[in-house]
Amino acid sequence: MNRFLSISYFALLLVILFQGSSSAQTCSATSCHQAILGTEKPHAPVQGQECLSCHHQKNTTHPLLGGKSWELVVKVPVLCAQCHTPFGSKKVMHSPVKEGDCLACHKPHGAAGKFLLDVREDRTELCVTCHNPEPFKQRFMHGPVAVGACNKCHAAHEANEKALLDAPVRNLCLSCHNDFATELKNAKVTHPPVKDGPCTACHNPHGSSVSKILKQKIPELCIECHGKIAKKLAGVKVPHKPLSQEGGCSSCHSAHYSDNKRLLPFDEMSACLNCHDKDNLGTPPLRNMKKDLEDKKYLHGPIKKGQCAACHDPHGSDNFRMLRGSYPAEIYVPYKEGIYSACLSCHEKNLLRFAETTIYTKFRNGKRNLHYVHVVNSRKSRSCRVCHQAHASNGEKLIDKEVLKFGVWDIPVNLTISTSGGRCAPGCHQAFTYDREKAVVYKTYSTNRKK
Ligand code: HEC
Ligand code: HEC
Ligand code: HEC
Ligand code: HEC
Ligand code: HEC
Ligand code: HEC
Ligand code: HEC
Ligand code: HEC
Ligand code: HEC
Ligand code: HEC
Ligand code: HEC
Ligand code: HEC
Ligand code: HEC
Repeated sequence: MNRFLSISYFALLLVILFQGSSSAQTCSATSCHQAILGTEKPHAPVQGQECLSCHHQKNTTHPLLGGKSWELVVKVPVLCAQCHTPFGSKKVMHSPVKEGDCLACHKPHGAAGKFLLDVREDRTELCVTCHNPEPFKQRFMHGPVAVGACNKCHAAHEANEKALLDAPVRNLCLSCHNDFATELKNAKVTHPPVKDGPCTACHNPHGSSVSKILKQKIPELCIECHGKIAKKLAGVKVPHKPLSQEGGCSSCHSAHYSDNKRLLPFDEMSACLNCHDKDNLGTPPLRNMKKDLEDKKYLHGPIKKGQCAACHDPHGSDNFRMLRGSYPAEIYVPYKEGIYSACLSCHEKNLLRFAETTIYTKFRNGKRNLHYVHVVNSRKSRSCRVCHQAHASNGEKLIDKEVLKFGVWDIPVNLTISTSGGRCAPGCHQAFTYDREKAVVYKTYSTNRKK
């Protein structure tokens, strides 16, 4: 300001010394340059009518027909620098500023808006005289961009961050979204790219054809980084419907943070039962899992701990029912090693290995492995589902009284467990008792032959 003052005094001095036609009074006379004074927001030295602080008469005659009798005291931007601190102290300079083209944006005498600009708060029009207007005409616009508050984010002249930003992108975003910043700090689980990366990993700063100004639709947005899931989406045999439906990944995950592991909106089981609580979900309808689990006396170990994904891959898999291992859909299946890996990934690996055992299962008569009898060594190998429920039961060992649909008949199983064995009175065969300590001797042996 001191500099400005000294210069304007100097200008004043010039006016006093040379008088004549260079008087400001005369310059802005009705017939001549009155428009220069008439702007809504005049430049301070113009308002003070200090024309000579910028203009210098090079020819004694003025006006001069067909020629220029005036020139600038010095060229822009040096002219401006006589009163304003020149730019160049920061790392990134806006290209037209660097070139000294102040007048590309500013009107030297005054303008309709503040800062000697012909635009007011909405700066878009000014910026798009040089920049591609497309990013600012998207279907979904970011609030501050929609009203042309470009310079709330971008410095007009120079800045220390790329793209003329005054702060790293993330800090910039959180400076307005400060409620978000607080929640982020308090969240138990934060998505790594949100934790310390730039928000622009997922959002366009200006606008987008996708809502929430996302760079891409979901799931494309997500699978760009999550390649393993991309592969699953591209072609598992048993996909999970919600992944490809509206909402996609968002129907189970929050994008930023959560109080639950894996960015789930609730604990895992509630996240599943949020949908699997209906009688008409899927075609043909799946069992209503919520109802299935309610009031059951025995819950399968993982379910007791609230885990569904221990057995099912929520993103789909190549196995029946999106299981993580193999589990045949049928009741009778010729036995092959590995076909019950969905169960034996947690349970005794040797369950079905030996016809005789004293340790690998409690389902035995003496040493005789009754799992082997039913599942392996049989003309009609039975699946576990013939006896066990996968999720919950009212009977012990996940065996319900009525577990299996045999055509139109719910075959009863009627298992009773004793300390050293049990008694099974199923619809499959006559009642048998088994005893691990003192093997029971049977009169008839197998029932398969009759069928
Ligand atoms: C802060 C510096 C500054 C002051 C003060 C100033 N001008 Fe200017 N004036 C300029 C610049 C810069 C240009 C543009 C020159 C160019 O385009 O090369 C200009 C251009 C002009 C022009 C030619 C183009 C036009 O806009 O019509 C006239 C006439 C003019 N000024 C008159 C005046 C008068 C009269 C005053 C005082 C009331 C005045 N100026 C005060 C900087 C100033
Ligand atoms: C003779 C001194 C002088 C010169 C030369 C000068 N300015 Fe200024 N300018 C001022 C003063 C004084 C102010 C008012 C400062 C304030 O209000 O703090 C001002 C204000 C401004 C403003 C802010 C206006 C507003 O609405 O707040 C801009 C933009 C500006 N000048 C641009 C320029 C540009 C561009 C040039 C060169 C073409 C230039 N100035 C040349 C003295 C000058
Ligand atoms: C690309 C357009 C553009 C160019 C080129 C430009 N400015 Fe600005 N200038 C602006 C905008 C926009 C603002 C208002 C900034 C805001 O809203 O904070 C501004 C504000 C100003 C101000 C007042 C506020 C401040 O930041 O001090 C001055 C002085 C100024 N410019 C001087 C200059 C000078 C001198 C040049 C040339 C070296 C120049 N400008 C070139 C767009 C420009
Ligand atoms: C006179 C022409 C002109 C005007 C007006 C203009 N710009 Fe620019 N701007 C440029 C040029 C040229 C570049 C450099 C282009 C490039 O590198 O691709 C640039 C670059 C930028 C950049 C990128 C800087 C970087 O280093 O990545 C941003 C951000 C920007 N301008 C914002 C704005 C905003 C906001 C406005 C309006 C207030 C504006 N520009 C007005 C000419 C202009
Ligand atoms: C909410 C903050 C914000 C607002 C408001 C904003 N921008 Fe940006 N802009 C950014 C960010 C952040 C980037 C950098 C993007 C990146 O890192 O790739 C950017 C980049 C740019 C670029 C560089 C080229 C590009 O597209 O990457 C230009 C030019 C630009 N903005 C112009 C504008 C204009 C013009 C406006 C007003 C119509 C505006 N911006 C409003 C945040 C904003
Ligand atoms: C200048 C302040 C400001 C800055 C800086 C800012 N925003 Fe915003 N943002 C807003 C406002 C205001 C809204 C609208 C608020 C609302 O709808 O609740 C908004 C809305 C949003 C929305 C929701 C859009 C929608 O369609 O619902 C997203 C996403 C967003 N901002 C992301 C960002 C990102 C990413 C950044 C950093 C590049 C950022 N914001 C920087 C002010 C800002
Ligand atoms: C991994 C991608 C990703 C990152 C990184 C990201 N977001 Fe988002 N953001 C999203 C998605 C997806 C949505 C839409 C949420 C939905 O529909 O459930 C969203 C929505 C928003 C909304 C709108 C919220 C609402 O309820 O309307 C705001 C605001 C927002 N994000 C701000 C930010 C900010 C600030 C950052 C950086 C700290 C950020 N985002 C980083 C993916 C991301
Ligand atoms: C910019 C890359 C990026 C994008 C985009 C992205 N993520 Fe992530 N995400 C990561 C990284 C890195 C991790 C941590 C490593 C891992 O678990 O793969 C992660 C982890 C996760 C996790 C596990 C979190 C935990 O607590 O273990 C989930 C769930 C997740 N992302 C979901 C999503 C969803 C949904 C989207 C789309 C809205 C998405 N991601 C988009 C990079 C990304
Ligand atoms: C039906 C609910 C559901 C949907 C829809 C869903 N997820 Fe998940 N996701 C989960 C569950 C539950 C876990 C935890 C699994 C675990 O702990 O083994 C998980 C875990 C993750 C993980 C971390 C560990 C891993 O398995 O890689 C990532 C990353 C992830 N999901 C990304 C996504 C993406 C990307 C989408 C969209 C393509 C998506 N999810 C859709 C439920 C879902
Ligand atoms: C957003 C709703 C939704 C959520 C949340 C959800 N599911 Fe599903 N799920 C469905 C729908 C719909 C189907 C039926 C698809 C069809 O058959 O049309 C389905 C099918 C299934 C199937 C049978 C797949 C088949 O084709 O055989 C299993 C198993 C399953 N879901 C388990 C889970 C698990 C485990 C979770 C929690 C991690 C979960 N679901 C969360 C909607 C959901
Ligand atoms: C111990 C492994 C295991 C756990 C844990 C588990 N499931 Fe299952 N799930 C299975 C098996 C095995 C099947 C196939 C059952 C059959 O067809 O006999 C199945 C079938 C399903 C089906 C299809 C039901 C139908 O209509 O046939 C749904 C839906 C389902 N599970 C959801 C869930 C949900 C929700 C959870 C968590 C509450 C869960 N599962 C936990 C193993 C498991
Ligand atoms: C993710 C690990 C896991 C998988 C996979 C799994 N189970 Fe289990 N299972 C358990 C746990 C844990 C228990 C509880 C053990 C306990 O309480 O000692 C259990 C208990 C059982 C029981 C009751 C045992 C008892 O003593 O009460 C049976 C029967 C059973 N599972 C059958 C199966 C079948 C059939 C499958 C395949 C469809 C299967 N399990 C898959 C973990 C698993
Ligand atoms: C014919 C009916 C039947 C079939 C088929 C069957 N189980 Fe069992 N299973 C039982 C009975 C009965 C028990 C209880 C034994 C006891 O504790 O007295 C049992 C117990 C278990 C146990 C508890 C640990 C143990 O071995 O004592 C597991 C685990 C188990 N079964 C898994 C399976 C798996 C996996 C399959 C399919 C590969 C399967 N079962 C097939 C009847 C069956």
